[in-house]
Amino acid sequence: MYEKHYCWSILLRLFHWMFALSIVVLVVTGFYINTPWTNTMLEYSQSWPMAWMRYMHFVAGYVFSAAIIIRLFLYIFGNAQERIWDVLPITKRNIVNLFKTLLQYSYISDEHDERLGHNVLAGLTYVVTVLAAIFQIISGFYMLYPEAAFWEGWGVAIFGNQQWSRYIHHLLMWWFMIFAMIHVYLCIWNDVKGPEGLISSIFTGDKFKHTKA
Ligand code: HEM
Ligand code: HEM
Repeated sequence: MYEKHYCWSILLRLFHWMFALSIVVLVVTGFYINTPWTNTMLEYSQSWPMAWMRYMHFVAGYVFSAAIIIRLFLYIFGNAQERIWDVLPITKRNIVNLFKTLLQYSYISDEHDERLGHNVLAGLTYVVTVLAAIFQIISGFYMLYPEAAFWEGWGVAIFGNQQWSRYIHHLLMWWFMIFAMIHVYLCIWNDVKGPEGLISSIFTGDKFKHTKA
């Protein structure tokens, strides 16, 4: 028997899809900005491919930044599963879950430690991803507004100069790409192995748990 539990608020689901979809646009347009794959001799005659790609990159960049503001808000004011302490290995329950998940993911044990929110391994990876996103936003806005006092201040303090900030911006892109591939794989793996209805939970907000009886 299973019980249905409300797990993810609408705001968290909104964050998820704003984040996931904007990253797809940012990676494609980011690659174009790095190595344009059309003939740039067309630029400023009949079409403006680089200008359009950069425009799409910046629009998606604002969506990405708004998503991160939502997530930071939820880390403090979200429901019990959404707050940051639910995924930090600072309680016995969370440390046990971290080790049990590592054993299960490496096929050493078959035991699945059932809990409503993220498992701690996933949750920690999401925290690292949100941190990476903050550096991506600062380096992005520093490149976009290099002379605005706010972005220049943070950009110079963290990256030193524009060239370094562009390099870090590029390297961090690979984190998001590799994360996305492993993430989608593990979501499907968990959905196949477990009864929780994991994938539908990021659309509906509900998860399923075994009843005790
Ligand atoms: C996951 C998020 C993001 C990814 C994967 C990404 C990726 C990239 C890549 C690959 C480049 C080309 C740099 C290079 O390799 O030479 C780039 C450039 C740039 N990005 Fe992003 N970016 C992201 C987020 C952002 C954000 C949030 C902003 C802020 C508005 C931003 C603003 C810029 C700017 C201003 C440039 C330089 C454009 C130019 O040189 O003409 N990016 N981005
Ligand atoms: C078809 C594509 C996708 C599906 C089906 C999917 C599904 C899910 C599911 C089921 C969860 C909750 C998992 C858990 O409890 O640990 C989740 C969380 C998450 N996903 Fe995805 N995802 C997709 C694409 C992406 C992409 C492309 C990204 C970003 C690169 C992403 C970033 C995240 C993040 C950051 C979380 C954590 C949410 C939080 O902060 O609480 N997802 N996703």
